[in-house]
Amino acid sequence: MDIVLSGIRPTGNLHLGNYYGAVRSFVKMQNEYNSFFFIADWHSLTTHPRPQDIQQSARTILAEYLACGLDPEKATIYVQSDVPETIELYLYLNMNTYIGELGRVTTFKEKARQQPDNVNAGLFTYPTLMAADILQHRAKFVPVGKDQEQNMEMARKCARRFNNIYQTELFPEPQNFYFGNEALKVPGLDGSGKMGKSEGNCIYLCDDEKVVRKKVMRAVTDNGPQEMNSPKPDVIQNLFTLLHIVSDEETYKYFDEKWNDCTLRYGDLKKQLAEDMVRTLNPIRERIEEYKSNTELLDKIARMGADKARESAAATLREVRKIIGFRVY
Ligand code: TRP
Repeated sequence: MDIVLSGIRPTGNLHLGNYYGAVRSFVKMQNEYNSFFFIADWHSLTTHPRPQDIQQSARTILAEYLACGLDPEKATIYVQSDVPETIELYLYLNMNTYIGELGRVTTFKEKARQQPDNVNAGLFTYPTLMAADILQHRAKFVPVGKDQEQNMEMARKCARRFNNIYQTELFPEPQNFYFGNEALKVPGLDGSGKMGKSEGNCIYLCDDEKVVRKKVMRAVTDNGPQEMNSPKPDVIQNLFTLLHIVSDEETYKYFDEKWNDCTLRYGDLKKQLAEDMVRTLNPIRERIEEYKSNTELLDKIARMGADKARESAAATLREVRKIIGFRVY
């Protein structure tokens, strides 16, 4: 079975955009691949030297992913800092990576501009730590967004170079994994095309009913349909796209017809949308709360994931040590 690995940046709570984008695809992936999912807490040190309550935020992320359906029996779900084998590979990869190529990585240049007083070596070698995350499991596929393509190119370079220097075929070159059409693009409630944390227009999976309703009722609209069968402006199309995602076919049609014959009242549409969102989110939020209140279970799941991940990484590291010529016990 091919190995897929995905790193999760520990930044904040999951929202509907995450859920209908990557997270549901992860849930599907775990049935089709040997999947590894991990929380990249070490990487956060490159920008936040003293992260706030790092254990607690790892637990929260874990709880949210489990609530969405990630299954520790099917996939290996772990926290990066629980797998020290990664660091050893990171060291070897750093020895074969040149400062020239690391310096050309645009995410590094951007971060260096954002934090000129803290252009640290960890930030500089972010791509080799990421390559170690991937190569320690000899993963074949990595689902990543556009912003990570250069890091993926570096990971491939690390694999290729190691194989060349030591005349081995140990590392497969990891490929970018693109989700099929089951990954949906979720629009924002503010008329923008994308729901995103930095856009500040999110409905979070942990939002309670009241909050969800309030956010939906506040969604941006316009003066209403002016002409029969006219195309929908973006702000309205967004609401319909959301309706399409969380409501059933008939409901969607009902409101679509109302739009077309100019009898649509946005208040009704929003009420329905809020209702269906609440219905979708309630069971997820309840599961999040259940997991979050059971830290013992979360810790057990994390430990189980760490054991599996360490076993996989240790097997690779044994090969790496043998290949380079270090002692293997
Ligand atoms: N750099 C990734 C991001 O910012 C997170 C990440 C760290 C990652 N290590 C990884 C992703 C390994 C995939 C594979 O989103």
